Amino acid sequence: MTRAKKGTPMTAQQPRKRIAMLTSGGDAPGLNAVIRAAVKMGETLGYEMLGVEDGFEGLLGTPRLRPLTDEDVKDLLSVGGTILRTTNRGHFNGPRVVGAVDDPYLEAYNNIIALGLSGLITIGGEGTHAIALELSKMGAPVIGVPKTIDNDLAGTDRTFGFDTAIQVASEALDRLHTTAASHNRVMVLEVMGRHVGWIALHCGISGGADAILIPEIPFDINNIAEHVAKREEAGYTSYIIVAAEGAFPKGGKPIYSGNRLGGVGQAVADQLQALTGKEARCVVLGHLQRGGTPTPYDRILSTRFGAAAVRAIHEGITGEMVSLSAQDITTVPIAEAVSHLKTIRPHSDLVRTSKGIGIVFGD
Ligand code: F6P
Repeated sequence: MTRAKKGTPMTAQQPRKRIAMLTSGGDAPGLNAVIRAAVKMGETLGYEMLGVEDGFEGLLGTPRLRPLTDEDVKDLLSVGGTILRTTNRGHFNGPRVVGAVDDPYLEAYNNIIALGLSGLITIGGEGTHAIALELSKMGAPVIGVPKTIDNDLAGTDRTFGFDTAIQVASEALDRLHTTAASHNRVMVLEVMGRHVGWIALHCGISGGADAILIPEIPFDINNIAEHVAKREEAGYTSYIIVAAEGAFPKGGKPIYSGNRLGGVGQAVADQLQALTGKEARCVVLGHLQRGGTPTPYDRILSTRFGAAAVRAIHEGITGEMVSLSAQDITTVPIAEAVSHLKTIRPHSDLVRTSKGIGIVFGD
């Protein structure tokens, strides 16, 4: 402890600078690893670290905060979900209406300022960063961390959670191959991917699928049926398809059950059974892709992102999102990250390679 020089009046000790963090939107494996790394880096740099519970909702009314220390993040690296819990947009469902009677953005902003935060780390996907951008425009010191199993956030080569999702989906495909072969069946695996087909494309390649259906390339079911027949003529009696939940036929639209996206896998299985006469089954992988322990890749990426977010705040950077660019962690404006979705280019190497090795997309 530094002693006051003789004759110098003792001043009250300055309060420690504080950083808060929240997790928002659908969960993804690696959220807890980000929290852990941010807390550890914050402690190294002398910050008081706080967690906001339930996403941005925890910044409304009396903020729902909890202190986060090294002890609180012990054993968290490999744990799925988020200890801070999360909310899908909640009261922030839509762009800010300036002057509205109940303005959740203003309420959250006032709380951020009243808490005297040096920075607020917002860990989430596109919806989260749209909210973070509004708060940043108002003057809140926000730093984003890119999360989504869909990998569709612009401004970063990868989001954490994606690697775990493709690992789970690939393993599911490995398992479907053996049961499909035993029964001479067509098996369709429906995976997540609302607007983009990154999970379907990656696990389709790594899991040896015969067909991959993605929102970026509308399909014709007759083309798939022809491929099933061709494969059968060549002596292959089973057939594996991966369909992103947002995939749709040429001239058609994504399928919803009520207001939930989903059902394309079953529709494809039914139509193929009718067209080819082969038995077809559909498996919907759903939230199994999001739950549970992150892969080592996601643990490392999450750790790098969490530590980089705190370093950015320490360096006075705000309004940016940490990002993976080539092999480096850098930052990009949040505005860039939410400017568009990162979709699969139909003529990209991954698609051309897939087609070159005999995988069809139904186009
Ligand atoms: O955005 C990630 C995502 O996993 C989408 O692929 C999927 O459509 C959605 O979340 C499901 O969200 P919920 O858990 O709210 O139904």
